Amino acid sequence: MEKKNMLYEGKAKKVYETEDPEVLIVSYKDDATAFNGQKKGSITGKGVINNRMSNMLMKVLEQKGVPTHYIEELNDRETAVKRVKILPLEVIVRNISAGSFAKRYGVEEGIVFEHPTVEFSYKNDDLGDPLLNDDHVLALKLCDREELKTVRDYALKINDLLTEVWGRCGITLVDFKVEFGWLADHTIVLADEISPDTCRLWDSETGKKLDKDRFRRDLGDVEEAYTEVMGRLETIS
Ligand code: TMP
Ligand code: ASP
Repeated sequence: MEKKNMLYEGKAKKVYETEDPEVLIVSYKDDATAFNGQKKGSITGKGVINNRMSNMLMKVLEQKGVPTHYIEELNDRETAVKRVKILPLEVIVRNISAGSFAKRYGVEEGIVFEHPTVEFSYKNDDLGDPLLNDDHVLALKLCDREELKTVRDYALKINDLLTEVWGRCGITLVDFKVEFGWLADHTIVLADEISPDTCRLWDSETGKKLDKDRFRRDLGDVEEAYTEVMGRLETIS
């Protein structure tokens, strides 16, 4: 499979068309940004790790009944995926208070929730990805009611499955963001990536942060954390 023209360049990935109109190639970069692109940097080796990790996790989810865009890993940084139209929603599931939740509601990080929360934000960088409730999603016609239910159900199922996988790695899944897309026939599949860029992962014993918060908050050992998490996932696979 060959890359044709570049369709899109995002903060962490490039997306190319192929000879097959229904197949795209995603290429993972080492670039890292935070706070809506205000902080910029690079995490050496991140693209290779995120490519491999996201593919491993998507394969697990697919086997357990969550449809994904994944087709085939092509090389260290590139993967063939099904072409989708991305739903303009960031879907965030939280098990423990952290990040923008802790900030917005003025609570400490680390409060374990009795039930996971699902929240949506409008995928719109110019507006700073504002938070949306279900009625807002419907009013803005970002998707319909049935699709919103599908997305919520998948998000919670993904949370159960990923919590189990990371648990076997000695890692607590604090929260994560996923994105979904429509295939040409309008079915909804998981798209984008699942990686330490998009999940908060804390060591279950020590609480050490093993995700992109090390970059966002200048905690150091960023590359080491990504490598550590990848190594643990490979040992259980
Ligand atoms: P938040 O606490 O900053 O809202 O982040 C919640 C989760 O979503 C966290 O695991 C990091 C992830 N995330 C992204 O993947 N992309 C983003 O742009 C943001 C803000 C968060
Ligand atoms: N990647 C996002 C950005 O640059 C934010 C983040 O992951 O914190 O805006």
